[in-house]
Amino acid sequence: MRRTSVSLPTKQVHHDPHEKRARYAYEKEPGILEKIQAAYMNQTQKARWLKTTAIVVFLVFLFYYLSPKGVDIYQGVSNSGGQVPSDSSYGTDRCTKSFSKDKPIVQYVLMIDAGSTGSRIHVYKFNNCGPTPELENEDFKMTEKSVGGLSKYKDDPLAAAKTLDDLMEVAMKGVPDKLKGCSPVAVKATAGLRMIGAEASQKILDAVRTHLEKDYPFPVVSKEENGVAIMDGSDEGVYAWITTNYLLGKIGGPDQSPTAAVFDLGGGSTQIVFEPTFKEAASGGMPEKLAEGDHKYDLAFGGRKFELYQHSHLGYGLMAARNSIHLNLLHDLYEKKKSKAFLKEPILNNPCINAGQSDMVTVKLGDDSPLGTGEIEVNMTGPATPAPAQCRAMAERILYKDAECKLAPCSFNGVHQPSLAKTFAKEDVYIFSYFFDRTKPLGMPDSFTLRELHDLTAAVCGGEDSWDVFSTVPGALDELRDRGEYCLDLNFMIGLLHTGYEMPIDREVRIAKKIKGNELGWCLGASLPLLSKNSGWTCKVTQTF
Ligand SMILES: *[C@@H]1O[C@H](CO)[C@@H](O)[C@H](O)[C@H]1NC(C)=O
Repeated sequence: MRRTSVSLPTKQVHHDPHEKRARYAYEKEPGILEKIQAAYMNQTQKARWLKTTAIVVFLVFLFYYLSPKGVDIYQGVSNSGGQVPSDSSYGTDRCTKSFSKDKPIVQYVLMIDAGSTGSRIHVYKFNNCGPTPELENEDFKMTEKSVGGLSKYKDDPLAAAKTLDDLMEVAMKGVPDKLKGCSPVAVKATAGLRMIGAEASQKILDAVRTHLEKDYPFPVVSKEENGVAIMDGSDEGVYAWITTNYLLGKIGGPDQSPTAAVFDLGGGSTQIVFEPTFKEAASGGMPEKLAEGDHKYDLAFGGRKFELYQHSHLGYGLMAARNSIHLNLLHDLYEKKKSKAFLKEPILNNPCINAGQSDMVTVKLGDDSPLGTGEIEVNMTGPATPAPAQCRAMAERILYKDAECKLAPCSFNGVHQPSLAKTFAKEDVYIFSYFFDRTKPLGMPDSFTLRELHDLTAAVCGGEDSWDVFSTVPGALDELRDRGEYCLDLNFMIGLLHTGYEMPIDREVRIAKKIKGNELGWCLGASLPLLSKNSGWTCKVTQTF
């Protein structure tokens, strides 16, 4: 079981380098004046002068010590002496005062997503005009394609760290100078970095931390709080759940309505996170609460507690699933033909390729394939007569529905999961990433049932002859002609949702890429906890920035 605690948000702003510099200038003043008066004044004049100077200096000190620390950060406009500072860009135009006196009026968080193909920065600006921090703005940048991800610099950790400079530029420009020292930065790497081995990846992460700490004014989130680290699958899923429900206003605010489930389909793995309800437990034979285990995630967020079910199914991302399905087909053929010669010829009648289409497919052979090691490229050709059901069978085969289930009920591959039909019957279900990317371009609405997804799959697998339905959707036909594996992709999705997770066929799901203009995914959800006290960073005082 994992725990994350997020109490929104009471970070204290302690130090402001500018304030310090200003105070220093005042301290210097009397020294110079003393020298001047020594040359020109008699004793009495000198004594009177010293007295006046002392009082002035005392008042100046009093003024600086008594004014609330970081007053400009807290209120957007300075209340000292009632004057409005000429530079109010570090404030917000939503309000002139923080909702609570121990919350700064605006806070920035920098989140770097170090993916396998590239790194991205999100610079989030929040205001505390209300009881819940409001996401006001997001700046985003991703590394150039040619630069690639951190893992590409396996043998040169410093070069890896420097690939982030281009991204940090966004934060250097976007975050006002006064707030940089109190704007935390975290770097979260996804599974890609793990592939290069523990030692190499740790060296890169260490180099990244050192570079950010030494060369930038932002505080880096501590090691204990995994400030620069490879992220767990469970955290990734839960952060995505936080993002979604925060943007929907279901958590962190006054709304106490049931939370939404999130289903994320990535390339290597797929995540499911939801808050099951065990209302009718007493009558039936099922357990009354969520069983203990790694799948249980206790989350405290915005003053509420959530008991979440989460699981990250490794090897069930879309690209991983494609590979497993193709590999099974090749192994079946090898079994039948007892020779590898067939690999040189097109594989005809692959039911998972759109009818009448063919694709050059790269298949990773894995460790114990009778076909060899490494990768092979094969020409996969779809059937002349559409066979969507046969493809679905191939998709379901990799789910291992009949694997031993140690803690019932199980979804697939022996993994425990409370029944969606019983513990999550009516609440919203959000499916995103590849779920969105493969359905929206074909003209699917924001919300549809699994039966409609099933019908879509049949039409897609049918090939050109059944693609009339897509002729009015801009770009849809190009999308289909370009991707012979469309039939596989959709069959895997329906197989995963309906057969794997056992979601009823008439269950409605929602696809989304954004909510209220903000990207879904784990980044925002991972940033929100950093707004609260004791989240692994303190303001940084620097002289040089
Ligand atoms: C793949 O095989 C099909 C069927 O034989 C053929 O029509 C197609 O041109 C081949 N594709 C490539 C790229 O070789």
